[in-house]
Amino acid sequence: MKPDDKKIWNIGLNEDRWRKRKKRSEDFQTVDAVIDLNTAKHLKRLQNKGFIDSITGTIASGKESGVFLAELGPKGREYCKAYSIKSPIVVKIFRTSTLNFKQIVRYIYGDRRFQKYSKNIRHIINLWVEKEYSNLQRSSLAQINVPKPILAKNNILLMELLGKDGKPYPLLKFTPKAFVKATLTQILNQTKLLFQRAGLVHADLSPFNIIMVNQTPYFIDMSQSVLISHPRALEFLKRDLRNVLSSFKLKGLSVPNEKELFDEITIDFPDKDLIL
Ligand SMILES: Nc1ncnc2c1ncn2[C@@H]1O[C@H](COP(=O)(O)OP(=O)(O)OP(=O)(O)O)[C@@H](O)[C@H]1O
Ligand SMILES: [Mg+2]
Repeated sequence: MKPDDKKIWNIGLNEDRWRKRKKRSEDFQTVDAVIDLNTAKHLKRLQNKGFIDSITGTIASGKESGVFLAELGPKGREYCKAYSIKSPIVVKIFRTSTLNFKQIVRYIYGDRRFQKYSKNIRHIINLWVEKEYSNLQRSSLAQINVPKPILAKNNILLMELLGKDGKPYPLLKFTPKAFVKATLTQILNQTKLLFQRAGLVHADLSPFNIIMVNQTPYFIDMSQSVLISHPRALEFLKRDLRNVLSSFKLKGLSVPNEKELFDEITIDFPDKDLIL
């Protein structure tokens, strides 16, 4: 069934209907699974403040998050104009019920930006969202190809849509033609700039987290990305390089040497030997 704009939005925000609802279409189920009552209230607040106007469709629904399309409200439009971000935008909602806490704490602990974290689940989720916002912001300022972030609030992240006419561009994973030398070179170059200019390691880099904007790869999904001062940053960088190289190798491409790449990226990294 084609997502019905108004229904998707209302169903998230009308508390009575939320509780009484019996009939469920597939789209409602996607929205239901991600937008719990608390999230619906946070969305309503964002709507009241004029950041967003309506949720108009579903882009993806993963185990730990749902990614939706939304039209900007007046305040959102004003803010986004300054950053050349157009409506519709992306609303990424982190599911509070399925996030793997043991897993995510590993990426928060050791990051000097987030030293004060409690064991409270909601608080950790909020940090996780703030972390993705902050990583996208840092990358964006360093002119790395990422979607520009707009706002992080509770378990909700608003960001630029990498897409055209309200349709998202495809992931590298599903763009067989993009597995060519030029794309690999760009990805490795972006990884190097991310490390050297933004001071970050993506930490989950793979064809599933790279969107092809025409011929140009953009990195997405950065909540787990860490500062290069994180105790495990170099280990994560190695893993990223390995994942990317092996995905291109599987497509029959000859790829550069992993160790040489790693050394080139980390050449000026002061504590390289100490940390390894
Ligand atoms: N800014 C964006 N523009 C266009 N599409 C996006 C954007 N951000 C995310 N997506 C789409 O939503 C999907 C899920 O986003 P993301 O990878 O950030 O979340 P996730 O929690 O890792 O989900 P999953 O577990 O499915 O990977 C992406 O694979 C991509 O197709
Ligand atoms: Mg992902």
